[in-house]
Amino acid sequence: MKIAVVTGGASGIGRATALALKQDGYMIWVADVNLEGAKSVAGEVEGEAFYLDVSDEISIQDLVGTVISGNNVPHVLVNCAGIIQAAVSPADLPQDDWDRVTNIDWRGTYICCREFGTKMAEAGRGSIVSIASIAGMRSVPLHAYGPAKAAVVAMTQNMASEWGRSGVRVNAVSPGFTLSPPIIEAIKSGARSEAALASQSAMGRLVTPEEVANTIAFLCSDKASAITGVNLPVDAGWLVAGSWETYGGVRASTS
Ligand SMILES: NC(=O)c1ccc[n+]([C@@H]2O[C@H](COP(=O)([O-])OP(=O)(O)OC[C@H]3O[C@@H](n4cnc5c(N)ncnc54)[C@H](O)[C@@H]3O)[C@@H](O)[C@H]2O)c1
Repeated sequence: MKIAVVTGGASGIGRATALALKQDGYMIWVADVNLEGAKSVAGEVEGEAFYLDVSDEISIQDLVGTVISGNNVPHVLVNCAGIIQAAVSPADLPQDDWDRVTNIDWRGTYICCREFGTKMAEAGRGSIVSIASIAGMRSVPLHAYGPAKAAVVAMTQNMASEWGRSGVRVNAVSPGFTLSPPIIEAIKSGARSEAALASQSAMGRLVTPEEVANTIAFLCSDKASAITGVNLPVDAGWLVAGSWETYGGVRASTS
């Protein structure tokens, strides 16, 4: 059976991805710093749960050793583990916070790609999808998160070229504002307005974790067999609609 490792699989987009890949017939290895959450999702997909802290190189290498010990080089790696940051000025962003976001969102994703991708390349096949963000594609007041996600896109392109001849495809997905637990909590607490977030996108709404997961599953599948090195936005048109604000916003529905 084909194996898919989903980091950050205990919640949100990672959990939805585990469910989508299960539908596609994969054995799911749910890896997360939240082990209880990982166990819960593993129960849902009849998979395995593992503790993983992507900010710790040893923890990643332990996971790789465990997965591969039975000669099980995974067919798919999805890098969903990530954290967000507060939208503050550089002066108000403690360097420790910058380091933590960068360590998890960029360095952790890099090491997971390096460790699993090298084994996949030796095996002559594999597909990696990393979760970047629209925040890495536009100017936003997220001085650690935005550049870290832009780095994930650059790294994806490099690794796609690195391992293309070895049969490993490497792609990224950039979600827009997605109704996963951190965004839902921000809306509930009043820190974010759902209407304001939705109004910025061409389609006038947020994205669901399932919509991101379905795109990831497509990129992992043979239907995407000639696609490598891309960064596919799943953003309900946030990237294209922003500049329309200068002209009073996107057109209202005509139906
Ligand atoms: N929700 C959005 O609007 C949105 C938009 C763009 C990109 N993203 C990205 O999507 C990914 C998933 O986010 P989500 O919205 O589902 O959030 P989430 O909080 O629901 O899921 C993130 C998961 O990552 C895990 N995690 C955090 N630090 C970790 C670490 N050091 N090691 C291992 N696991 C760790 C968490 O325990 C959690 O299970 C993240 O990379 C995030 O940056 C989210």
